[in-house]
Amino acid sequence: METLGTMHHLIQTSMLNTQEIHTILSRANTLAKQNLYPQTLKNKTIITAFFENSTRTLSSFEIAAKNLGAKVIRLDVSRSSTSKGETIADTAANLNAMHPDAIIIRHKNAGAPEHLARFITCPIINGGDGARAHPTQALLDLLTIANHYHQENLNSSSINLNLKGKRIGIIGDIKNSRVANSNLELLPRFGLNITLIAPPHFLPKTNLPTSHSLKDCIDKLDILMSLRTQTERHSAQVYGSLKDYAKDFCIRKEMLKDRDIILLHPGPVHHNIDLADDLFLDNRCKILNQVSNGVLVRMAVIEHCLGIKI
Ligand code: NCD
Repeated sequence: METLGTMHHLIQTSMLNTQEIHTILSRANTLAKQNLYPQTLKNKTIITAFFENSTRTLSSFEIAAKNLGAKVIRLDVSRSSTSKGETIADTAANLNAMHPDAIIIRHKNAGAPEHLARFITCPIINGGDGARAHPTQALLDLLTIANHYHQENLNSSSINLNLKGKRIGIIGDIKNSRVANSNLELLPRFGLNITLIAPPHFLPKTNLPTSHSLKDCIDKLDILMSLRTQTERHSAQVYGSLKDYAKDFCIRKEMLKDRDIILLHPGPVHHNIDLADDLFLDNRCKILNQVSNGVLVRMAVIEHCLGIKI
């Protein structure tokens, strides 16, 4: 039976304590085993307000909410009054007056979810704000990695998230990537060692080990997370062309040899720039597992944010 506990916003992964992360990811694995999902969100109304383009994240959140029985209302941003000059604060206050149970927002400005949270009384879930944070993506990445190394997670009611000593390379436009930022915040909490692999202009200021050559460090890595070049966030073209970038940073099958190494990418993928085409059919490529895990993690995150106790 579900009862209502405290509601929570989820804006950055740092808002979750380790116990909450275990609870959310273990719930995601439990939901994966259900033939029929429990209708824990019956009679709940969830608004999705995506002010920036999205394929995976928007549909993933909407499927997640509907799987658990919620009504989902999508704010059609191109037709909303924001395009008539209404401020995001006014939009938020008006949406709030319709008494939704949660609002899921994506916005091009970092900090938009906190700003919105000041005008609403229900939980806010961040579906990506500027280059800053994408907490549910990092959670689904962590789940995908943990389930690979601890396959017993899938048949257990608890979850092992201990990834001590595993080495992950994050490759690409790290500086402009909210996916990277959320992973940089989350993954070290579970023992992962991170190396940043990128041309100098894509590297943030960091104390982590860095490399400008994927070839030089790939043999020392267990997990590769490739990222799309965020061309929409560049004020000037900072490399010759994506093809030049690919020469040094595209992951190719021959680089992996026959090693037990896994590949992650949040999508959308630039084919043959981020990853060579033939890797999509390689069973070390976990991109579609990430997408499936995304729905499960978001189901668990929405329950958590609404304070639904199972
Ligand atoms: C990313 C995003 O929009 O932050 N994709 C995603 O949500 N799965 C990454 C990207 O746009 O490159």
